[in-house]
Amino acid sequence: MIVKFATKQIVELLRATGEPSRLRILALLAREELAVLELCRVLDQSQPRVSRHLKLLAEANLVERFPDGAWVFYRLTGSGREREVIDYLLSQVDPGDTVLAHDRSRLDGVLTERASAARTYFAENATRWDEIRSLYVSDADVEDAIVQVSGERRIRRLVDLGSGTGRMLTLLGPRAAQAVGLDLSQQMLNIARRNTTEAGLANVELRHGDILDTRLADATADLVVVHQVLHYLGDPAAAVREASRLVAADGRLIIVDFAPHKHEFLREAHQHRRLGFSDEEMARWLTEAGLPHLALTSLPPNRSDGLTVKIWAAARTPDELRIAA
Ligand SMILES: C[S@@+](CC[C@H](N)C(=O)[O-])C[C@H]1O[C@@H](n2cnc3c(N)ncnc32)[C@H](O)[C@@H]1O
Repeated sequence: MIVKFATKQIVELLRATGEPSRLRILALLAREELAVLELCRVLDQSQPRVSRHLKLLAEANLVERFPDGAWVFYRLTGSGREREVIDYLLSQVDPGDTVLAHDRSRLDGVLTERASAARTYFAENATRWDEIRSLYVSDADVEDAIVQVSGERRIRRLVDLGSGTGRMLTLLGPRAAQAVGLDLSQQMLNIARRNTTEAGLANVELRHGDILDTRLADATADLVVVHQVLHYLGDPAAAVREASRLVAADGRLIIVDFAPHKHEFLREAHQHRRLGFSDEEMARWLTEAGLPHLALTSLPPNRSDGLTVKIWAAARTPDELRIAA
């Protein structure tokens, strides 16, 4: 480790990290960004207590706080000297340490519960999905904008991550020599299979898999689409990294999701974890994932209580995005 700090900063860092609960919080956040209430459950501590620890960690630049509707999430600071200190400290902890192992297993429980609620939701809503989707925005407008952003070239290989009922595959598949749709829900895949067959698409392969670990080869898709999936995920940044990994040198990634909003009911009723994403957050994730060139489209709602849909198109080189303009 080659980081250097002034004496005062070292004392502050030692103060912030030199407490068992705070070290445990850092180890938990190294795994995934978490909401305060989730940390309380894992640590079995009250919210005021956990919030106090988080405040100290945030003041020492060891964690970042980001409000999302009425919830507040925390993640480890992304880069810089403080991050090197965290990584170093955590690398020195015995992997078999019983306290951290216990925390890990409690976190597994929280994550499994969350994933199973989402799976049940998608299984139960598979047949109603297109109807649910259109409650919030005009599908036709969004799809027109996606077609425009995807450029006019023929697509060699399209990858649709979290393909659901296959809407993106039927929209863009006719222009693709080859298309892959990947989803975690077998029910969704069954409907996508029917929809793509009905659309006469013989070139579509539907795979069961996780967007965080697609098992697809590096840089092999000239169009990767992630449409209305990121807001369900515990670690959307990891999904952006995985999607970016698949993008060919002359390819582009299109992410469609909501702008930040305040419809809290979507968490309970529709399993949304994040209430939208800011342009800054998305640009940072994409840049860190190697796709620094970004074109933004914003589609405001057509009803007063609706949601703004954002399309983030990203590429490795500016030329690739100019074709979309
Ligand atoms: C709102 S639907 C959107 C589907 C499709 N992209 C569309 O717009 O019609 C979200 C989809 O993401 C899938 N999904 C959620 N988490 C996933 C994960 N970790 N890996 C793969 N698919 C996932 C769900 O099963 C669901 O089909």
